[in-house]
Amino acid sequence: MRKWNFCAGPAVISEEVLEEVRSELLEYNNSGTSIMEVSHRSRLYSSVASEAKQDLIDILNIPKNYDVLFLQGGATHQFSMVPYNFGNSSGEADYILSGSWSKKAISEASKIVKVNTIASSEAKNYSYAPDPKTWKISENSSYVHYCPNETIQGVAIHEAPNVNKPIISDASSVILSEPLDVSKFSLIYAGAQKNIGPAGLTIVIIDRDFMELGNQKIPNILKYSEHSIAESMLNTPPTFAWYMAGKVFKWIKRKGGLEFFKQQNYSKSSKLYEYIDSSDFYSNNIDIENRSIMNVTFFLENDELDSPFLLHAEENGLLNLKGHRSVGGMRASIYNAMPFEGVEELIKYMKYFESKYG
Ligand SMILES: Cc1ncc(COP(=O)(O)O)c(C=O)c1O
Repeated sequence: MRKWNFCAGPAVISEEVLEEVRSELLEYNNSGTSIMEVSHRSRLYSSVASEAKQDLIDILNIPKNYDVLFLQGGATHQFSMVPYNFGNSSGEADYILSGSWSKKAISEASKIVKVNTIASSEAKNYSYAPDPKTWKISENSSYVHYCPNETIQGVAIHEAPNVNKPIISDASSVILSEPLDVSKFSLIYAGAQKNIGPAGLTIVIIDRDFMELGNQKIPNILKYSEHSIAESMLNTPPTFAWYMAGKVFKWIKRKGGLEFFKQQNYSKSSKLYEYIDSSDFYSNNIDIENRSIMNVTFFLENDELDSPFLLHAEENGLLNLKGHRSVGGMRASIYNAMPFEGVEELIKYMKYFESKYG
């Protein structure tokens, strides 16, 4: 029996999608093989790949002057690909430090370019995100990098920033949760394993003019422009993950697109935050305007109750609520594929636990 899965990633995938994939697993489209067993250059696979790309373009309304790449290496690989490609023009880049993932991005970029950390909430334990209006963009930086949704802390910057430099976003845990004005960004990247599909695939959305500014002296496998020319098939792509992402994109379309998910995601997260705020037993320490709609973190008043909370949660069919080991507490990741009902079940359980131990 399937249970409510609150994992931060790899995360829950819609049952509708999983059922469809199961029905095609042994034989795809009367081909006599599964989609996993065919060449990425075959006609059969090419149509799967290009349809997935087009569906993503439709869902996010991606302008024509952008390319969409289906790569490997996770978002972590982007931490170095970005500065390798774009750090060279000035040798400097601006980074916003708003949580554990942007810290990692900074650490990797620092090996390649001079990083200016132009805004940081580290001193306050990432309990808020620096407001884009306060970012002091350096004159010499080649780009500005930030993470709109810090998956570990559950801290978000909801508005796309307006800055007069190329802006690069690690949207791993927030992409496809609501509509996005892609034209504000020079590059958006995201690991797939939250709102897109299974792990192993990384999506990059890149402004073609910006892409052409990339360093030409790096190995091809690191170059966005080479991946673009090869239509993301410079080498064998993660074919099954790409196929599954295509199924998720179709599901998003069927459900009503990103407006539908925006509404659902805000209702789910508001309901959960409302309950946490109404209770003395649970708390969330993120500034209200920076609370994530995807990763809701919370603490029990008495951390000795953490283990029984998790144990009973599992017994009640609620999985993976443990917070990241670096911050402790709890985290409910409520991506697109988590229905409203799952959040209601979580709140019901939290109330029950509070009444028993509070
Ligand atoms: C915001 C963010 N950035 C980067 C990463 C790293 O992604 P990957 O494991 O795909 O390299 C994660 C993973 O959860 C993430 O949530």
